[in-house]
Amino acid sequence: MKVAIIGQGYVGLTIALFATEYFEVIGFDSNEALIRQLNQGISHIEGVDSVLLAKRIKAGKYKATSHGEDLNESEVIVIAVPTPLTKDRQPDLSFIDSACKSIGQNISKPVLVINESTSFPGTLRNFIKPAIEKYSKDPIEHLYAISPERVDPGRTDFNQKNTPRLFSGLTSEASAKTREFYSKFCDSLVEVSSPEVAEAAKLFENTFRQVNIALVNEFAQIAHSLGISVYETLDAANTKPYGFMKFSPSAGVGGHCIPVDPTYLAAVAEEHGAPATFIRRANEVNLDMSKYIAKRILADNGGNLKGKSVLVVGIAYKPNVADVRETAAELVIEHLRSLGAVVSWHDDVVANWKGESSALLQGAEIAVVVTKHDSVDEEKILASAPYVFDTTGKVKGAKGF
Ligand SMILES: NC(=O)c1ccc[n+]([C@@H]2O[C@H](COP(=O)([O-])OP(=O)(O)OC[C@H]3O[C@@H](n4cnc5c(N)ncnc54)[C@H](O)[C@@H]3O)[C@@H](O)[C@H]2O)c1
Repeated sequence: MKVAIIGQGYVGLTIALFATEYFEVIGFDSNEALIRQLNQGISHIEGVDSVLLAKRIKAGKYKATSHGEDLNESEVIVIAVPTPLTKDRQPDLSFIDSACKSIGQNISKPVLVINESTSFPGTLRNFIKPAIEKYSKDPIEHLYAISPERVDPGRTDFNQKNTPRLFSGLTSEASAKTREFYSKFCDSLVEVSSPEVAEAAKLFENTFRQVNIALVNEFAQIAHSLGISVYETLDAANTKPYGFMKFSPSAGVGGHCIPVDPTYLAAVAEEHGAPATFIRRANEVNLDMSKYIAKRILADNGGNLKGKSVLVVGIAYKPNVADVRETAAELVIEHLRSLGAVVSWHDDVVANWKGESSALLQGAEIAVVVTKHDSVDEEKILASAPYVFDTTGKVKGAKGF
């Protein structure tokens, strides 16, 4: 079976490599520089092994392309493109639309289209199917299904094989073919009654994280005002063997999807006249953490940061990945700069970001740890400045929540 995967980023390339064990895979991406790199057997994703990629290319099992006509041979097409927010923080389906265009304009026989991109309930039925039909020259009865991706980049205990996968087709034939496809490389498939349930479940999983992180972020501020340790209190609460799940405070929310996906749920809720107050508020609490951190650093440093050199340690959104999308570091830096601080940043795995390069981990007056990669030595962080504020709870001896 020939499979095409549209979007060769974190989700698409990861799934592509799993699928190459059983299928011939075309990795389609609009980024031509990335296509050249992938065809040389060089992966840009942590956890996707370049050696394996090169092996699959040599065996004729994988080919990256940016030519739409290469999709034409495929029997299954997986959509794995970004679903970000627009500037005014509304769902942005433009990448999905352009993926639908590539399918519509290049596929001339019925195929199974599976969406793995995260979006609100109704996207498969009311957006993807009509868009592909709109872009197709001739009317073609494709099969449509959703299987929201749950990959957690950098994680080694759970992957595409052992993470249960939700799915549902628009028809029973689409569901059956989707099951057949994923059963080759995924141990546990969970079919739900409609694509909308699968789409909503994915959004709810991430919203669950978002609101619980907001709660613990608010609690960190309460604990500080009471003069007690938030970490000790959370560990104490966590001794309850049921009805409690521990989340940790952070500079933001961690994860490029977590700040975005709940907004998709809130937008669709409000469109249907349902309240999303809790979700909206949680987002605000998480976004405000950067302001709170800047205020704490200001208070600890004599109420004046003007001209002080501040080093932000770790700008990736989570440990051990180079992904900076929606990183909390951005707002932390913005607030510190608005207070007059001279801010630079250090990251072991991100060399360049927003036209700036990673600075040395030394010589600052103030350091603030936003993300702690395993490779960064705790002692080096502590030695990088006389005052270190750690938002991760991992640098012992530093100030923190
Ligand atoms: N990264 C994760 O941890 C994760 C986890 C679960 C779900 N998701 C969801 O999966 C989807 C993809 O996320 P990602 O992290 O893989 O994104 P990504 O940015 O890493 O990769 C997306 C790729 O799609 C390409 N692209 C964009 N538009 C295209 C088009 N029209 N045709 C071909 N290629 C196109 C981009 O060049 C890019 O290489 C999103 O909806 C995201 O929310 C991501």
